[in-house]
Amino acid sequence: MITQSLGLPHLLGIYELDAVEIGYILDAASEFKKILHRPIKKIPSLRDKTIANLFFENSTRTRISFELAEKRLSADVINFSASTSSVKKGETLLDTVRNILAMRVDMIVIRHPHPGAPHFLARHIPANVINAGDGTHEHPTQALLDAYSLRDHFGQLKGLRVGILGDVRHSRVALSNIFCLLKMGAEVAVCGPPSLIPYHIESLGARRIKTVDELVEWADAVNVLRIQLERQKENYLPSLEEYHRFYGLKRDHIERRTDPLVVLHPGPMNRGVEIESEVADAAHSLILDQVENGVAIRMAVLFLLAQQSPVR
Ligand code: CP
Repeated sequence: MITQSLGLPHLLGIYELDAVEIGYILDAASEFKKILHRPIKKIPSLRDKTIANLFFENSTRTRISFELAEKRLSADVINFSASTSSVKKGETLLDTVRNILAMRVDMIVIRHPHPGAPHFLARHIPANVINAGDGTHEHPTQALLDAYSLRDHFGQLKGLRVGILGDVRHSRVALSNIFCLLKMGAEVAVCGPPSLIPYHIESLGARRIKTVDELVEWADAVNVLRIQLERQKENYLPSLEEYHRFYGLKRDHIERRTDPLVVLHPGPMNRGVEIESEVADAAHSLILDQVENGVAIRMAVLFLLAQQSPVR
């Protein structure tokens, strides 16, 4: 039974949330996860809502996870992909979305390559807006499902040491995770090639650790990031082989520890580059738990935002 209210019409980023609001979402997700384990996984909570999933960038997990969450809550669902739409004919984002809203859509889930696109829409349209990833800026539902998976495994986030390994510079997952984990009382450290770690990172409250060996020694859990080659305008790395040699998470790293290292990855994963298969598939990998928990987190976010109408 979910009694709390978020009091927010949009989920644009973790930056805008406080620890209490994040806690409400994680607690609500626990209730929805129980529903996902029942023989009948569907509830009528959003049967009066129509939700459009607008994906202007590729996605596997986030798009399917949102669609499944919406269907589990009995909403009507519209899926839009930029590659097959009239965006290709020059239509603006606002015109596209206004046309979709004219069909009486209540909520918008948007993934867009431009940072701030969901924030722009939230200011201009009378619908709840959920950010499903905006460029290199934020991916709030990914951070929430990562936090949920860690809390589920360790029992609490306060005092937990979480390492973020890899291409932090181009990662919206990293930024949302840093905001979320620090707000929830965890410690965060980042590690990666100096060219892929932003200079300002320590001002956010994250520490910087130079080597994977040191990170693995320090952390309770490591969230491994893919190198976002599609976002790199310059050559930040000599080669992927060298990256794997110096910054890949390997079986040796986890075997060196006396206690198990918990491993996360938001996907999509490049096995043999940022992570060895033996690590991705190890007993203490939460990678598939993250995917399962993502549906419960998205059900929680959709349910809580639907209680709060946007200004029309
Ligand atoms: N984690 C994540 O956003 O994956 P997709 O790009 O497949 O949605």
